[in-house]
Amino acid sequence: MINAILEPVLCTDKFLKECDYTNTTLDVAIKSAIDKIDYAIECFGDDMFPDAASRGNVYESIPNEYGWHNGFWTGILWLAYELTGNEKYKNIASGHVETFLARIEKRYNIEHHDMGFLYTPSCVASYKLTGCETAKKTALLAADNLMGRFHENGNFIQAWGDLDSPRDYRLIIDCLLNIPLLYWATEVSGDKRYETVAYKHFRTSVQNVIREDASAFHTFYFDYDTGMPHHGETAQGYSDDSAWARGQSWGIYGSILTYAYKSDADAIEACKKMLNYYLNRLPDDYIPYWDLIFTEGDEPRDSSAAAITVCGILELVKFLPDSDSDKKLYENCAKLIMESLYQNYRTEPIKESNGLLLHAVYNRKSGSGVDECNLWGDYFYMEALVRMKNNKWRLYW
Ligand code: GLY
Repeated sequence: MINAILEPVLCTDKFLKECDYTNTTLDVAIKSAIDKIDYAIECFGDDMFPDAASRGNVYESIPNEYGWHNGFWTGILWLAYELTGNEKYKNIASGHVETFLARIEKRYNIEHHDMGFLYTPSCVASYKLTGCETAKKTALLAADNLMGRFHENGNFIQAWGDLDSPRDYRLIIDCLLNIPLLYWATEVSGDKRYETVAYKHFRTSVQNVIREDASAFHTFYFDYDTGMPHHGETAQGYSDDSAWARGQSWGIYGSILTYAYKSDADAIEACKKMLNYYLNRLPDDYIPYWDLIFTEGDEPRDSSAAAITVCGILELVKFLPDSDSDKKLYENCAKLIMESLYQNYRTEPIKESNGLLLHAVYNRKSGSGVDECNLWGDYFYMEALVRMKNNKWRLYW
């Protein structure tokens, strides 16, 4: 049982509004994304990666030696391969696997929890789509690394920093997208320890990060000596007690991913509660401001949160019976968000852009990647397009 309220979705007319996101629109959206990916390939070649966020809507290129986001570029290529069947995407994505192996073996910037973001859309996807044994081995090494960040007394995976530093003794909601790597590791290795840690982390997360109103803390601290819950704090949100939009989206999608593996009723409950809170704070075009404390005005939007949420909704509705009173609304809402992204957030009109989605925010407080493309926004937009095209799409997560 999740200790938070389930807000009913308010303004149901807004979410049940007729939507023009037809199959033709979807096909045009896919073509426009593939054209941009082809252009990006010219920029990044076979073994370089886009930076986390663009500058002036153009990503600079980096090697796979730092950043938590690099897996998304490989994931975009896998999704392009699935959509088109064109081997060129597969060949580049397959070639990336060696760079991910080198990164984990040489331990380049892997002292953090983002092993799932790095290794799931890249190496797990590669293994699922091609059976590549190197990809499997690489993703399992990443899973082992993630396991090393689990604290037995607090029952959580520590996000950042030194494992013996009380100042860093916290989890963050984003990690709900890292733990599917551990569920997968159990599936392929038969070793239950991975799944046990993932599930303990999930339970600790949802019991502490979700506030009574179903908004989510971004990060949550535990007492270093006792492991007892201590307090929530933001890192990228507006304030400690506001709901950073992308954090809420990580919570929505991450919870339902645990449901996909564990069929835990609390996971679906957590997803719905966080989702309704999120929907009730959307402006008229269905794309959130960077923090849900803003519901109107000039603050920047975060289109990446919108794309993540669509994937969460499309995963959620797979598990809802037709009798669920909100199912239709959620399905329509996913389309309305996609229509809005299609109409006003695509990079298509900006010739020089090598990204997919405009108007995302990386970190408003530090001023980095504000009103820019970011790579996870692009990845989840592509994943949403693939999901819309094929509702039997096999998850990378
Ligand atoms: N996981 C980091 C972010 O969403 O910015």
